[in-house]
Amino acid sequence: MPGTCVVGLQWGDEAKGKIVDLLGDGFDYVVRYNGGANAGHTVVVHGKTFKLSLLPTGVIRPNVKSVIGNGVVVYPPKFIEEVAGLKAAGIDLSESLKISDHAHVIFPYHMEEERLAESGAEGKIGTTGRGIGPCYQDKVGRRFGIRVGELLRPDHLRERLRFVVPFKNRLMKAFANGHADQLVPMEPDAITDQYLGYADALRPHVADTSRLLHEALAAGKRVLFEAAQGSLLDVDHGTYPYVTSSSSLPSGIWGGSGVPAKNVQRIIGVVKAYTTRVGKGPFPTELDDGPTGTGERIRKVGREYGTVTGRPRRVGWFDSVAVRYTAALAGADEITVMLLDVLSGLPELKLCTAYEVDGERVTHFPSDSYQLDRCRPVYETIQGWTEDLTAVRKLTDLPAAARRYIDRVGELVGLPVSVVSVGPDRAQTILVK
Ligand code: GDP
Ligand code: IMO
Ligand code: MG
Repeated sequence: MPGTCVVGLQWGDEAKGKIVDLLGDGFDYVVRYNGGANAGHTVVVHGKTFKLSLLPTGVIRPNVKSVIGNGVVVYPPKFIEEVAGLKAAGIDLSESLKISDHAHVIFPYHMEEERLAESGAEGKIGTTGRGIGPCYQDKVGRRFGIRVGELLRPDHLRERLRFVVPFKNRLMKAFANGHADQLVPMEPDAITDQYLGYADALRPHVADTSRLLHEALAAGKRVLFEAAQGSLLDVDHGTYPYVTSSSSLPSGIWGGSGVPAKNVQRIIGVVKAYTTRVGKGPFPTELDDGPTGTGERIRKVGREYGTVTGRPRRVGWFDSVAVRYTAALAGADEITVMLLDVLSGLPELKLCTAYEVDGERVTHFPSDSYQLDRCRPVYETIQGWTEDLTAVRKLTDLPAAARRYIDRVGELVGLPVSVVSVGPDRAQTILVK
């Protein structure tokens, strides 16, 4: 398969990183096409943990080349930190990691703008605070956006920031409302000097990555696209406005990497065996059952705390209505079911098969957040299992109840289950086919 995409079908953190790592060896390139350092992808290889935020997970495979596509928003200090961290772990990316000259750059005023907006009384999204939304706003607004390629032209960058920063200072004052007098205005020249320093570190990696990928595909190379976030956080099709600001669905690949959709033949949808969500927004199957409830138990066993912000993730039952919706939008060919081990020991498990709204049963996902908020889950109950699954490597070695659970998830979503994951390590994986 020359082009494959790994995409999360819930609200993010489905363990996409583990699947990308698992498949990584069979690919020449791994490409990020959306988001930025709001993502947190954790991979465990032979007991060693790697946490990646901005870089594609493929970077940890020695023979894989990695690309940060034009659709990603880049915070240079994070890029530098991750590259240095990997170098210290023995992974040298000086030749193998490329970053698009068209990718937009996150500046301190983006983060500050977001911090001020999110600390207001109204309109909070519950973002990761990484400047993602404000940077994409500038990209689409065109007047203030600055691309990676522009960092490499010092005089031009200084001139641009002398135009942008005074405007941003005024904007931040407006956001600060009653506290404007406490704001220290940002200095365009100081930011320029700081970013020119970053530019030196970025320079060897900067490339026309669309052309690079076109040439790679023409030469028969295999390319894996790694989505960040989950499909329910997609800016167009997710639970707007409680979404991120990019296209996390595979539809983002064309725009976010320059690779036409016809090159992507296999779409792998990743789901958790249950559901999690970080930040605000509707969540019909949420388990809000207190400190001794099932929700807290799953959170503890699954270590459901955000990789980026450390926030406790909201936890709930598997929602097949939502996943059928995202699988259709993504064009998923198969699903991988992750973190099944976390459900061990629960006497019974619930699968959401439909919603009830105003006394009526619906099986279609309303992508309008207001409608979704009014939906109540209709559950089917499945018997649980007590066995620890973390050492299971074959489908036939799963307890019958766990097997039934997986079969039913696949049936409800309407797709084959190709992988079942029973622990964070690369080895703790059951390949179904
Ligand atoms: P991503 O953002 O989709 O890549 O997912 P994250 O890395 O944010 O979150 C998934 C978390 O679950 C990570 O800490 C993984 O190490 C961990 N993980 C992955 N697969 C499994 C599994 O099958 N069982 C358990 N218990 N943890 C897993
Ligand atoms: P990965 O790639 C889970 C959520 C935030 C917030 C909303 C908007 O690890 O699956 P943003 O900072 O993007 O403007 O925040 O989106 N969010 C994620 N939730 N996993 C992620 O990435 C996320 N990236 C953003 O919590 O609700
Ligand atoms: Mg994550």
